[in-house]
Amino acid sequence: MLAFFLTSTAILGAGHIYIAFKIMPFLLALGLSKTMGFSLILPGALFMPALFFWRFNSPFSIPSWLYTGVYIHFGLVSTLFALLLARDMFHLAIYTGQSGWNYLLNPSIKSSQSSSLLQSRREFLEFLTAGVTLGSAFLLTGAGYLIAHQKPIIRRVKLGSTWKITQFSDLHLSPSLPVSFINEIVSSLNQTEPDFFVFTGDLVDGTVEELEGKARLLTQLNAPVYWVTGNHEYYSGAENWINFMSQLGWQYLHNSGLRFSKKGKNLYLCGVPDITGSKILPSHISDPQKALSGSLPDDFKILLAHQPRSAPAAEKAGAHLQLSGHTHNGQYFPYNTLIRLAQPYGKGLHSLKQMKIYVNPGTGYWGPPNRVGVPPEITVFEVG
Ligand SMILES: [Fe+2]
Repeated sequence: MLAFFLTSTAILGAGHIYIAFKIMPFLLALGLSKTMGFSLILPGALFMPALFFWRFNSPFSIPSWLYTGVYIHFGLVSTLFALLLARDMFHLAIYTGQSGWNYLLNPSIKSSQSSSLLQSRREFLEFLTAGVTLGSAFLLTGAGYLIAHQKPIIRRVKLGSTWKITQFSDLHLSPSLPVSFINEIVSSLNQTEPDFFVFTGDLVDGTVEELEGKARLLTQLNAPVYWVTGNHEYYSGAENWINFMSQLGWQYLHNSGLRFSKKGKNLYLCGVPDITGSKILPSHISDPQKALSGSLPDDFKILLAHQPRSAPAAEKAGAHLQLSGHTHNGQYFPYNTLIRLAQPYGKGLHSLKQMKIYVNPGTGYWGPPNRVGVPPEITVFEVG
């Protein structure tokens, strides 16, 4: 715990020092001293490590407003850091070509005047872009907060007409996820009136003791729920959660499946643990072949697998459709621009040979209450 505290503080400290130096021209122009500027920014490096230290070492629970505030701050800081980095790279590209930059500013300027004029224009540019960057970070964070808590959009995917299946994913129940938002999600899910729900992992960020009350809100769903674990279940006591959700009526699919028949058609629904689950629980190896072994040749075969990275194994095992989550399509800037570096599919419907894969970008949110360009989603499939 101490190593985590020191490492995270060092990384966050370096990030905050970078931010402080880069927006200082703007703060000075507002009339603040350098000492005031640093005092305003640098303590933020301690917020997240202190929150974790408190959460895991104190018998007193953290007020949800404080938990939420720290995560909003973290989202703001990471967006600001990325924007400032992008701005610096842009400046670097300009400054490295000085003759071109000089010409661009004033082609008729005499060479003896160019140096001082260039310097003053650079300073003005630093002040201006620092202010614009800071304002943009606040705007993105504010908009991201509103989008993260909006009523989920309902996306419909028609691959047949026999069964209606509603997918939700990545709820990430946590001390900060508002009860009102969970109730809104449950209400939206019930309005889709499916044959059954599927949940594709990352239910929780916390223990059963911490989040039991919020999890119980999910018993209001009006159809059976089948689910698989996500990677976050393994950070939160996966076995305890599987047992607890079973008590609430959710059916967990562990490299296993079940068949449905309707209007002369057959459906096989199966699921695997998260692809990284066995690193924490060795018995939780993700095995699509085993999960699909109970199916019959004429079945329409659906595999629930938290991460899209399971797709090659699912296709090889003979699934017709894989349903996943996990990516949040990056959730907010800058991660929404980088997601494809980590995952083969960010969101939506894709094909891998004969198999379809659908990636739900998440119904809740992870960490900062911040979604930019990726609203919460519920997906309704018609299959068979
Ligand atoms: Fe995940």
